[in-house]
Amino acid sequence: MDNEVLKAIRERRSIRRFKSEQITDEELAAVLEAGTWAPTGHGTQDPLIFAVQNPEICARLRHFNAAVMGQADADPYYGAPTIVLVFSKADNPNCVKDGSLVIGNMLLAAHSAGLGACWINRCDEMFEVNDEARNLRASLGVPEGYKGVGSMALGYIAHEAPAPRPRKQGYFSIIK
Ligand SMILES: Cc1cc2nc3c(=O)[nH]c(=O)nc-3n(C[C@H](O)[C@H](O)[C@H](O)COP(=O)(O)O)c2cc1C
Repeated sequence: MDNEVLKAIRERRSIRRFKSEQITDEELAAVLEAGTWAPTGHGTQDPLIFAVQNPEICARLRHFNAAVMGQADADPYYGAPTIVLVFSKADNPNCVKDGSLVIGNMLLAAHSAGLGACWINRCDEMFEVNDEARNLRASLGVPEGYKGVGSMALGYIAHEAPAPRPRKQGYFSIIK
């Protein structure tokens, strides 16, 4: 069996080099909306998505994320002009699962729209680096009690993605 969704799932790749040109508002909206359609445990729709396109704020996000990596000069977002942060309620046992599905949906939607995207880790720790980082998180509007699940670099693709590794043997089993 094959169809457009299955093809997109197979062909999506993590993109790690981006053009500086910003994506359109329509493209951004399509990606974010796809995130909102992810399933959540008990249908809580707890996750919150913050898309940052302000270059000055993006620079600070790059800086704090790199600080967690211990590589002050690195850009963990690979120059992507849009950074998408996903938070979910820390006291919900499905916090990470819900947020991860939101990111998964957005990664796939980005690919389907011809955009590049990559999951970027450290979305929680980056806002604990110092008081400036904590203040930034608050100024973005992230409520207290929310945990950073993951983030995403998003933009126009500046390189062809490398071929994926073949899927491992025994990845799934069918028990009838
Ligand atoms: C939970 C998770 C965390 C990840 N964190 C990062 C990251 O911080 N930086 C990065 O460049 N890629 C990150 N990735 C992307 C993976 O490296 C990538 O998905 C994997 O190598 C498979 O490649 P593909 O996405 O092209 O299939 C992450 C992916 C997941 C699912």
